[in-house]
Amino acid sequence: MRITVIGCGYVGLVTGTCLAELGHHITCVDTNAARIEALKKSVSPIYEPGLEELLETNINAGRIHFTTNVAEAMQGASAVFLAVGTPQSEDGSANLTYLNAAAAEVARNAKGFLTIITKSTVPVGTGDALEALVARENPGVEFAVISNPEFLREGAAIQDFMQPDRVVIGLENDRARSVMTAIYAPMGDIPLLFTRRRNSELIKYAANAFLAMKVAFINEMADLCEAVNGDVAEVAQGMGLDPRIGNRFLQAGPGYGGSCFPKDTAALAASASKAGSPMQLVEATIASNEARKANVATKVAEALGGSLVGKRIAILGLAFKAGTDDMREAPALSIIPALEARGAKIAAFDPKAFEQARPLLTETEFSKDVQSALHGADAALILTEWPEFRTLGPSDFKSTMRQPLVFDFRHTFSVESFAAAGVSLYSVGRGHDEDEQERPDVLPFPSLESEVKAKLAKSKLKIHSA
Ligand code: NAD
Ligand code: UDX
Repeated sequence: MRITVIGCGYVGLVTGTCLAELGHHITCVDTNAARIEALKKSVSPIYEPGLEELLETNINAGRIHFTTNVAEAMQGASAVFLAVGTPQSEDGSANLTYLNAAAAEVARNAKGFLTIITKSTVPVGTGDALEALVARENPGVEFAVISNPEFLREGAAIQDFMQPDRVVIGLENDRARSVMTAIYAPMGDIPLLFTRRRNSELIKYAANAFLAMKVAFINEMADLCEAVNGDVAEVAQGMGLDPRIGNRFLQAGPGYGGSCFPKDTAALAASASKAGSPMQLVEATIASNEARKANVATKVAEALGGSLVGKRIAILGLAFKAGTDDMREAPALSIIPALEARGAKIAAFDPKAFEQARPLLTETEFSKDVQSALHGADAALILTEWPEFRTLGPSDFKSTMRQPLVFDFRHTFSVESFAAAGVSLYSVGRGHDEDEQERPDVLPFPSLESEVKAKLAKSKLKIHSA
């Protein structure tokens, strides 16, 4: 089938490339001319494992093309995917400016019967509004507006697209049903869920908000574990063995980020309020996540004796999660400025997100590798779960830092081995014995000044040390 994809970002590019791999003939459009020129040379504007290779294969096979011209891209196409951004507006709602502009241009170029498929995440009722917009722009044209939300995760996007848990298709009549079935047919036996268009729009937000709530919940459990000497990893394991709960998205961390959870929870809360049916759990999830990120600087300051003035802090990991260079709503973008505002000097390292992060963190020093970031640091924070950080041992911190104090927000290291090697480790959601804190011979931070030790002994922060 000939298909046009509007928008060459994470979703549009993965959709276009994967559909080409499935044998469809794809033309991708973007308003960003530099992006299109790079794509014509098989250069992906984003880091996504496996994407560039798949892109090159399909360009060479002649199954995927790139242009800035919508009219040219729509020649002979029977379906158009809208995959442009729907960012957060001031009031939390989804900004549909890009979507409406793209839909209007598609409408003006529509000929014959056209299936217009919204892949972008859009509030309930957007399909109805798009239907009216297309009819207004091109009276008489025959078309169907379908909701087909995308559930891919960055870092695992190709696999998620090619082997989906489900493909949700929201439609108001059966005219485009066969088109949608034909698009996904080469994937074989995958669960296609046909539903009303507004249910489909709601499913996308409900899924993201529920997952965000799960993460916020386990993060609050992590705080409780720290306060009462529990271990959140073991609590999560025990919870997750219940199939009604499931073991995924129960990893405590520095707070969720990314291009979806923050904006989609805000948009769902805004839609719900507007509909007169506010969602208190979603609102609480947003507040809990914001508080969590803000609390990190306080935790670090507390461990360093109260003040961060003149302290050097290494940040390992900037991207909102491993496997991507995406910096949108990354916890590092709240945590680093908060540490800097308290007088800390930051040296940051990320294996992939360096280029994206640099313009967003103008006060921050960027290090070329882990060792340069750690050099002379008073504390190190692990914010992203990059696999390469797991290869670091206590000696990597001990030999380069001014004092070996590590805040592990991603359960990268073993509490026991770090404590045994004399490296003080805060491991998110892992408390330790109150008695240990009281006994002067096991006070934390063997290498810290006595004044800091005394303050820490009084603090509630649980730091493991030899
Ligand atoms: P993105 O910002 O990475 O890409 C959007 C692209 O659309 C940009 O390249 C931009 O130049 C282009 N664009 C904007 N207006 C255009 C127009 N009128 N014509 C042609 N191109 C235009 O966005 P993204 O992360 O791919 O997200 C796209 C949509 O998919 C959003 O609604 C998002 O919520 C949703 N989504 C994203 C993810 C994800 O992991 N990123 C996952 C699921 C759903
Ligand atoms: C998310 C949804 O998972 C995906 O279905 C949707 O299409 C787009 O939004 P993504 O933003 O790529 O995907 O990342 P995801 O893996 O969901 O993680 C989101 C955030 O939650 C990250 O900051 C991650 O670090 C955090 N997270 C996730 C945790 O802190 N703990 C977990 O157990 C899982």
